[in-house]
Amino acid sequence: MRKYTPGMFTAAELIEIREKFYYVDKDCYGRERLFLDNAGGSLRLKKAEEAFHRIDSMPDASEHSNSLALELAALEDRGREDIKKVIFNAKSGAIYPSYTASQIAMEVIRVIMENAKGTNVVITMLEHPSVFDAASFYSAKHGMELRVAGVNRETGGVDTQAILDLVDENTALLCCMAASNISGYIYETEKICSGAREINPDIYIYVDAVQHAPHGALDPEKWGADATSFAPYKFFGARGFGIAWLSDRVSTFEHHRLLGKAGDDWEIGSPATAQFAVITEIINYVAELGQKTAPAGANRRALFEAGMKRIADHERGLLEMMLDGVDDVPGLRHIPGVTVQMDGKDLTTRDLILGIEFDKLTCEEAVAEYEKRGVITFERALTSMYSRRMVEAFGSKGMVRLSPLHVNTPADIKRFLQVTQELTATEGEPCDRMTA
Ligand SMILES: Cc1ncc(COP(=O)(O)O)c(C=O)c1O
Repeated sequence: MRKYTPGMFTAAELIEIREKFYYVDKDCYGRERLFLDNAGGSLRLKKAEEAFHRIDSMPDASEHSNSLALELAALEDRGREDIKKVIFNAKSGAIYPSYTASQIAMEVIRVIMENAKGTNVVITMLEHPSVFDAASFYSAKHGMELRVAGVNRETGGVDTQAILDLVDENTALLCCMAASNISGYIYETEKICSGAREINPDIYIYVDAVQHAPHGALDPEKWGADATSFAPYKFFGARGFGIAWLSDRVSTFEHHRLLGKAGDDWEIGSPATAQFAVITEIINYVAELGQKTAPAGANRRALFEAGMKRIADHERGLLEMMLDGVDDVPGLRHIPGVTVQMDGKDLTTRDLILGIEFDKLTCEEAVAEYEKRGVITFERALTSMYSRRMVEAFGSKGMVRLSPLHVNTPADIKRFLQVTQELTATEGEPCDRMTA
């Protein structure tokens, strides 16, 4: 038994869990497949999708006064409360729903940069382009220096000290994600926020938690962040929604709003009622997972935290199996012809995402070969504007990104490893690849 196996779901629990999601082992055409691209959009919770369809099929406007409209308004309010109190564990501040997490990043960074005092902005090399580009654009616009903390190739992350070394009393904004969407590295968010505030108590801190949200509970007030965002489509929910929590001082900055609304209201236009109902279903699901381990009488947030911990524990077991093997099948670290990139040794610092390279296949070729064998992965290629900066930072020419989910079983991982071994049998010359 491996170190993290005891924390994993039992076989019986996994059967129940898998039943709750669509397309776990077959696609919409009934073709068998193993879906390992959850970081691009996760498997969908059936109850969330059903709620979405049920609510969205109604024409009623939640801001009107007929009885169904009032029911929809109540669902929205429940969703808002769930988002603020359960997902974000927040007592203060406001939530900001929008169409995508990218739009949120650009808008919130714009508003912060119009209000913050300072001469520089600190950001990390692994930020998503929506954060990185917004920080670049607005630091240039306001004549501020952009400082970028580089990566640690061994851990797959950015060292806390490397970030804090760039922060000074003139840092207006720090953007630092909760976990990387290329390596899965979990940033030391609380340490980073408190360290930065010690240097400059007035600093604003944006924490993009889009990648981390499906793997661990968020706690922006405790971290000391000013803004934190996630996207439900990567968290068992539906596409077309992104959500942020904003601290009191950010939520009350002048921003685009209908002037009849409160100064800290960031919702613009007709609310997407169905999307709020989706969030409530996601929380119901996670809280139910937490029932088993949470103390008696635990509130909804405590159940949610316990459920997220169970998810993280199971996923850590899967990660270990991917790296070190299942039964007699060797793990990625031990398959000749495969290199695990960003292979931090401490698995507690990693979400279930990893990047590999093949000696004799480019990442695009490998992804195509995986798909021929029923395994869906994703290429983090140098040609992609979403990947290039990070792939280069790790000294790679492109990686296959693997992002399973807690619904996956040890048998799934075994099958994936067997297919990987098959891919290394490819004839041919080593492909041109820089070494890390
Ligand atoms: C870490 C991270 N941040 C932000 C985003 C942007 O999210 P959205 O697609 O909702 O704009 C993504 C999407 O891949 C992401 O992985």
